[in-house]
Amino acid sequence: MSDLSDVIPQPRRTTSGAGGFFELGPATEVVAGDGTERTARWLRAEVGAATGLPLAPGTGPGDAVTLSLDGALGPEGYRLDVEPTGVRLAGGDPAGLFWGAQTLRQLLGPDAFRRAPLPGRRWRLPAIRIEDAPRFGWRGLMLDVARHFMPKEGVLRYLDLMAAHKLNVLHFHLTDDQGWRIEIRRHPRLTEVGSWRSRTKFGHRASPLWEDKPHGGHYTQDDIREIVAYAAERHITVVPEIDVPGHSQAAIAAYPELGNTDVVDTGALSVWDTWGVSPNVLAPTDHTLRFYEGVFEEVLELFPSEFIHIGGDECPKEQWRRSATAQARIEELALADEEELQSWFIQHFDTWLAERGRRLIGWDEILEGGLAKGAAVSSWRGYAGGIAAARAGHDVVMCPEQQVYLDHRQHAGEDEPVPIGFVRTLEDVYRFEPVPAELTSHEAEHVIGTQANVWTEVMENQQRVDYQTFPRLAAFAEVSWSTLPAPGERDFDAFERRMAAHYRRLDALGVAYRPPGGPLPWQRRPGVLGRPIDGPPPNK
Ligand code: ACM
Repeated sequence: MSDLSDVIPQPRRTTSGAGGFFELGPATEVVAGDGTERTARWLRAEVGAATGLPLAPGTGPGDAVTLSLDGALGPEGYRLDVEPTGVRLAGGDPAGLFWGAQTLRQLLGPDAFRRAPLPGRRWRLPAIRIEDAPRFGWRGLMLDVARHFMPKEGVLRYLDLMAAHKLNVLHFHLTDDQGWRIEIRRHPRLTEVGSWRSRTKFGHRASPLWEDKPHGGHYTQDDIREIVAYAAERHITVVPEIDVPGHSQAAIAAYPELGNTDVVDTGALSVWDTWGVSPNVLAPTDHTLRFYEGVFEEVLELFPSEFIHIGGDECPKEQWRRSATAQARIEELALADEEELQSWFIQHFDTWLAERGRRLIGWDEILEGGLAKGAAVSSWRGYAGGIAAARAGHDVVMCPEQQVYLDHRQHAGEDEPVPIGFVRTLEDVYRFEPVPAELTSHEAEHVIGTQANVWTEVMENQQRVDYQTFPRLAAFAEVSWSTLPAPGERDFDAFERRMAAHYRRLDALGVAYRPPGGPLPWQRRPGVLGRPIDGPPPNK
């Protein structure tokens, strides 16, 4: 049985009951009302495995966990009542019910996060009432599976980790200069050629080290269907990102005609093996547009999400400046410059997606040279892009690199593995505020949520991803879910006390987090150069 106050993210209201507890045992049934089937399945599969209890379907009323829906609890809200006679869990909708089940698992104690029961454990829930609902509708994690591929099993595991933290959007960064990770049937070379590289820079750009072995992998379309269905079962939406017109060298290596063939021998390009922003960007031709429409047609078949991410970040304009083809297009469209050419490119896909009932989301560069109509923005270069977008009436997901880029080092110490970026400690993330004070309450309604971004240049395997992501994702989960005071008034000491229990949950889940005392010997990467940025992050 867990301490009542240990739940992460912190619920809105917790009232202890009259005392006592409810004990789950072999006879405990799950009573599943209409619309509650997914949560019933999850309880039986996950909590059933951890406890070894059947949690069989039943009709109640005694010795049961009774699941129901009650629209009055609002979107994603839930109410959990534990009494010595039984448990009642009601969701404002099926998602809220599922989040309530996550709270229930936390209350059972850390061993409820294992995959099989430990002998002699008892599964007691403290008598309690919890009433809860999230602050934001978009509580995201961006996983970069392009720089280093994460095999399908790892993605499914991350969906489970997200669910345990009540996060509900996986932003799936599927393509970049260093790899193309999704099968596209009509363009097979995207994965035949684009999904692997022959060697990889080990460390940040300045590092002289190479990992001299091939790296690669991709998801088949059936893998993607499985990932999307697994996420949906956990009330998580997968938002795919196909990055255009920059970050496209892997695609150009596969299909050289996508690049600026009049200024560079694109036939000689390979999938990029080092880090940074490649100058090799897509050519603004009709051929490129038709090619990517074909890509997006298959993407839309696979991903039911309302939002489709088209990247739009960090597109160097040098090749377009030198390309007669690009310049002719600028003239033909009567555009002012290359920035407007990028806007034209983005707006093409904005319209194309809108015609198919979807919405475009892109990195905040899509604001430059004219904001695409109806588009939403991932504000990453600080708050400014998000503020401008919200003021222009566009929805925003706040993910400023100064605050929630989890690739950035989490301590200033010498032992941090391949340290890059600003120091962002667990406390810094806990004090992150997604809604900037500059916005009026009306404008702030456009901040539909927030996400933490995990870029994997210096994370060569799952353990490295775990180390960078945890424990900070737990703090981020609380920021995105809970109603917290202003950053300066947040009680980090209390959060840290609750983390003591949460580390035990992460241990049971097998997460290779950064321990509070610093990296374990095998978590260090002595001699591998990073690129730390000193001083406090600029408050852009
Ligand atoms: C980004 O970090 N380039 C979105």
